Amino acid sequence: MVLENKLNITNQIELNKVEEKLSKKKAKKLFDSGKINQIKAGTFAGLKQIHKYLFEDIYDFAGKMRNVNISKGNFRFAPVMYLEQALKHIDKMPQSTFDEIVEKYVEMNIAHPFREGNGRATRIWLDLIFKKELQRVVDWNKIDKDDYLSAMERSPVKDIEIKHLLKNALTDKIDEREIFIKGIDVSYYYEGYDEYDIHKLL
Ligand SMILES: Nc1ncnc2c1ncn2[C@@H]1O[C@H](COP(=O)(O)OP(=O)(O)OP(=O)(O)O)[C@@H](O)[C@H]1O
Ligand SMILES: [Mg+2]
Repeated sequence: MVLENKLNITNQIELNKVEEKLSKKKAKKLFDSGKINQIKAGTFAGLKQIHKYLFEDIYDFAGKMRNVNISKGNFRFAPVMYLEQALKHIDKMPQSTFDEIVEKYVEMNIAHPFREGNGRATRIWLDLIFKKELQRVVDWNKIDKDDYLSAMERSPVKDIEIKHLLKNALTDKIDEREIFIKGIDVSYYYEGYDEYDIHKLL
């Protein structure tokens, strides 16, 4: 079943392409308009803003908490019943050190608050916390897709692998557009979206 969408697309392959194209353009605009700098780092409210901005042309649920349970592989993300409570807890988690930030990211991934688009929105959210608190961002180009995905699968049990990957990929080029833009392309590639090169989208 294809997710209900504003474009009334019923073919999954077509939806994937259109979603990639429209939301990648929005990701670029989030940076170029400077709106990204207005988002409050480390809050669910901030993550909602990112998600809404990326996906509002495609899905009614953009920026809205999901109301169905979801899972990936063998892992069930936070049950809807506990989601609000989990998100309130995450908002209050500290974020002043590298370890605290990654631990907060791992919890937000376990929450997976949206119906779709969690991975991509939450990586932007993570970068905003690093930028504000440590004056660093992740150079996603330095993290291999399979390494990343297996570290995230493992992260609810042990976060050492994801910490290792992220630590080695931090850069102080926090305002460099190319780092951000390329990071979006890599982030989409992790999730199987690699039809459009972000540099070529207007
Ligand atoms: N088995 C797993 N256990 C825990 N986390 C996982 C697992 N698989 C993937 N993830 C994390 O969830 C992210 C997104 O996965 P998923 O496809 O479930 O979400 P999504 O809402 O479809 O996000 P997107 O649309 O951006 O891909 C991955 O990038 C990874 O960080
Ligand atoms: Mg997805």
